[in-house]
Parts: sequence; structure tokens; C-alpha cells
Amino acid sequence: MKNCIIVTGGAGFIGSNFVLSWVKGQHGQCVNLDKLTYAGNLANLAAIEKNSEYVFIQGDIGDRAVVDALLKKYHPYAIVNFAAESHVDRSIHAPGEFIQTNIVGTFNLLEAARAYWNDLNDADKSNFRFLHVSTDEVYGSLSATDPAFKETNPYEPNSPYSASKAASDHLVRAYHHTYGMPTLTTNCSNNYGPYHFPEKLIPLVIHHALNGKPLPIYGNGSNVRDWLYVADHCSAIRRVLEAGKVGETYNIGGWNEKTNLEVVHTLCDILDKEKPKQSGSYRDQITYVTDRPGHDQRYAIDASKIERELGWKPAETFETGIHKTVKWYLTHQNWVDNVTSGEYKNWVNKNYNERGEELA
Ligand code: NAD
Ligand code: TYD
Repeated sequence: MKNCIIVTGGAGFIGSNFVLSWVKGQHGQCVNLDKLTYAGNLANLAAIEKNSEYVFIQGDIGDRAVVDALLKKYHPYAIVNFAAESHVDRSIHAPGEFIQTNIVGTFNLLEAARAYWNDLNDADKSNFRFLHVSTDEVYGSLSATDPAFKETNPYEPNSPYSASKAASDHLVRAYHHTYGMPTLTTNCSNNYGPYHFPEKLIPLVIHHALNGKPLPIYGNGSNVRDWLYVADHCSAIRRVLEAGKVGETYNIGGWNEKTNLEVVHTLCDILDKEKPKQSGSYRDQITYVTDRPGHDQRYAIDASKIERELGWKPAETFETGIHKTVKWYLTHQNWVDNVTSGEYKNWVNKNYNERGEELA
């Protein structure tokens, strides 16, 4: 096998951070298979587009001929599967694509990988890895006093997004147990950082704040998410790929639980210092809007398994990571302008007009 990995969804938020760090860190050849949906953006990868260790292929993980051809041509020792539809609110409006990519697409990728893996010699067979990148949302919602999610928690997905990710996790698990394929699954908490598409809370709030628009808080803002800086997620995936035990799942998180209101207040306070308004605070733009249907109250990751067994720890605290993130957005307004032109506007109108009335 070559010193090569195939990454899927490598033009999205986490995938592009992973591919950039992989290529810049000289970890070997990286082939990026991405369909370039609204969430995929080749501008994220401009810094490495001419690097001889990087190859981009536009294609769908659900297209068996494309995946077979890539496996045959590049002979990778691993597949890292980021490709997915990833936004809960979009999954509520239109779940079909989530079923297609997250479930059927992952199934197709597993089938192609199984055929490829079966034909490898014994040494290459045992070295091969299929790493599936998943989410903490598969575990459902916690109450304020529940312990954080462990790998042994039952799956209780509540949104079409999390249900589709849960289904894909189950398929990956089955391919290990039934066929012996060397799979690994990671379940990570909410990420934030550079190249985060501004449909998600943190980049949306920064974008709206700077443009004088309302900062929409769903419900009363008490929902809790556990935030991890994206570079830390990428380092955890690299660590699982090199040292994870096949067939296992690893929860990834940074022990950073925050209510949505705390996150938005933090963003406003940083912006008030870094780019003060003519008068008043960005907090004045906070607007309470109709809640998300089926909104999970709290996610929290117990990351003690990956810390104990693989010696992984995040490098950033929430405070250091969120400062870096705000500064990145302030210095990359062109990137934001590009991704928020066109289709993005339709989504924002659809999602927020319907939420309509203010709750406070
Ligand atoms: P994203 O939406 O930013 O990017 C997804 C990428 O996948 C895009 O580049 C898109 O073009 C590509 N893609 C979509 N459908 C495809 C298909 N059929 N074939 C090939 N490419 C396709 O998502 P993200 O936030 O970077 O998330 C990446 C992965 O990490 C997802 O599997 C997600 O479930 C998981 N995850 C995300 C978070 C988070 O906070 N964002 C947390 C934990 C896990
Ligand atoms: P999001 O970034 O969509 O991630 P996820 O739903 O996968 O956790 O949302 C994070 C939290 O922020 C979630 O509780 C929903 C909330 N939220 C808002 O309050 N307002 C918004 O405009 C968005 C997009 C999210």
C-alpha cells in the first residue's frame, strides 16, 4: 500500500482543517473526495492546491464507480470519512439528503472499502483503517445532572441529522463485527474555528454581529453544547488513526460545556473589544426566536477513554480557541463574503423568517 489516505468531505469545515494540517504536517499523500455541496469550498484548501502530496477529486461517496476507481488508483492505507450533511436545522426542513449521503453514501463507501480490503495481502489487510467521523448527537439529550456521554451510552438520536449519523455508525460497527474490517469510529462534540460555515451558531453570530443584524437565540438560550476547537478534533482523529484499537469507538471533547447564551455573550464581549461599535454593545443585537423543534437540551462528552488509552488532550481551552476564532473571522471577511453570497441567503430567509416572532 502507498503512504496515502483518502479523505471524504475534505472541502467542508472540519475536513478542510484536517486536510490542511495533514498535508502541511507532511503525514503523506492525501486524496480528497468531495461532492462540493453548498458546504464544500475549495477556497479553504487554496494553500495546498499545488502541493504534490494533495489530490482533489470532485465526486459523491454514494458513487460506487468513483470510489472503486480511487481505491484502485491510489491504494490507500486508510479512508477517513467526513462527508456528510451536517446541519440539524436543514435536516428538519429537508431530511432526504441526510438519508442519502449519511446513510446510503456511507454504506456505499463501506462496500467499496470491503471489496478493496478483501483483495489486500495479509499485512496490508491488518494495516488498513476505515475511520468514520461521527458526532455526540447520536447519544441524544442529557438533563442538567446526567453524567457526560461515554462510549457505552445507548444511542438515542432525536433529529433526522443525528438519526442518520447513528445509522451510519451502526453500519460501520457491523462491518467490523461481521466482516472483520478494521474500522474506527469517533464521536466528537460541537466544533468551532476557521472555515466554519456561517449557518452554525458561532460563525453566524459573528457574521450577524458585524453586519448589524439580530443575533438569533433559539428558545431561551439555556441549551448546552460542549465545544472543541477544530484543530484539536483533527489531532484526535490523527491519534485514533495511528493508535486506536480496531472496532472501537472514541468520544472526543474538551470538557467545555457552555449554554448558548454564554457562548453568544462571550462572542459579543470579544467583538466589543476587537471591533467596538460606534455606540453600545453587540449584546444589544441579541434576539430570542422560536425554538428548534425537538431541540436537544444538553450535550456533554466524557473524553476520558481517548485521554487514558491514547494519551490525547486538547491544546486549546474554550477561551483561547474562541479568541483565535473571532480573530480569524475578522481577518477573513472575504471568505465570509464569498460563502454568504448566493444560496446562503435563501437558507437564512427560510430558516429565520419562519421563526418570526421574538420571544423577548
Ligand atoms: P460540513 O457540512 O462543513 O462539510 C461536509 C462536507 O462533505 C462538504 O465539503 C460537502 O461538500 C461534503 N459532502 C456532502 N455530501 C457529500 C457526498 N455525498 N459525497 C462527498 N462529499 C460530500 O460538515 P463538518 O461540520 O465539517 O462535519 C464533518 C463531519 O464531522 C460530519 O460527518 C459531521 O457529522 C461530523 N461532526 C461535525 C461536528 C461539528 O461540530 N461540525 C461535530 C462532530 C462531528
Ligand atoms: P448549531 O451550531 O446548529 O449546532 P448543533 O445544533 O449541531 O449543536 O447550534 C448550536 C446551538 O445553538 C444549538 O443549541 C442551536 C443553537 N442555535 C441558536 O440558538 N441560534 C441559531 O441561529 C443557530 C444556528 C443555532
